[in-house]
Amino acid sequence: MERLQKAIAGFGYCSRRKAEKLILEKKVFVNGEMITELGYKVSANDIITVEGKTLTQEKKEYILLYKPRGVVTTTSDEHNRKTVLDLLETETRVYPVGRLDYDTSGLLILTNDGQLANLLMHPKSQVDKVYITKVKGLVNKKEILQLRNGVTIDGFKTSKCGARIISYDKKTDTSIVELTIHEGKNHQVKKMMASVGHEVIKLKRERLSFLTLKGLKSGEYRYLNIKEVKKLYNEVQKNKD
Ligand code: URA
Repeated sequence: MERLQKAIAGFGYCSRRKAEKLILEKKVFVNGEMITELGYKVSANDIITVEGKTLTQEKKEYILLYKPRGVVTTTSDEHNRKTVLDLLETETRVYPVGRLDYDTSGLLILTNDGQLANLLMHPKSQVDKVYITKVKGLVNKKEILQLRNGVTIDGFKTSKCGARIISYDKKTDTSIVELTIHEGKNHQVKKMMASVGHEVIKLKRERLSFLTLKGLKSGEYRYLNIKEVKKLYNEVQKNKD
């Protein structure tokens, strides 16, 4: 048995919060009966109808996309720019888990599994997100230590993270830095690097938990296999408990 709003989100219909709103708006029925109580429990045999639509279990899809730069991480864009969905050939209503900026490339998961998406985005899930960034100037040891210990961005102190210098190019006066963070604030890497005085020129997400871009070219994607999905669930549950 699980709470009605969680079950609705689990079907991928909407977020848990939106489901709570719909329940309070009297738009949710279980076995034909209107339910307005947020704590109402349902089982797998119950028939749930939301806004007149009966929820059926869509086959779950898990896509690992190598997002190119110049593509937005939304399902539609008001300026008609290319979205990550334009790169996929799937009939399933998958959506991106978290976001990468328009000018950021790298690993992005898209799924219709609301439960896994919520777990991955939960602040406590703590999965590694590894970014490689090219920044202006020479990054020094002191700045790396500051990044590791947490810096203040938008009045929020970032938590401890991994940071290391990969290389410095004297000719262009640019450094390559690897950051391993566990949070996902808006423009977090760019703001972290700016807080220690370095503007990001290029940014790429190379790894999410144990998942990498291996075998994919920019713009390509692949489906996760069941083993990888299970492992991902284990990773997020392990950190959340
Ligand atoms: N941090 C950023 O600044 N941008 C991204 O796209 C991802 C992380």
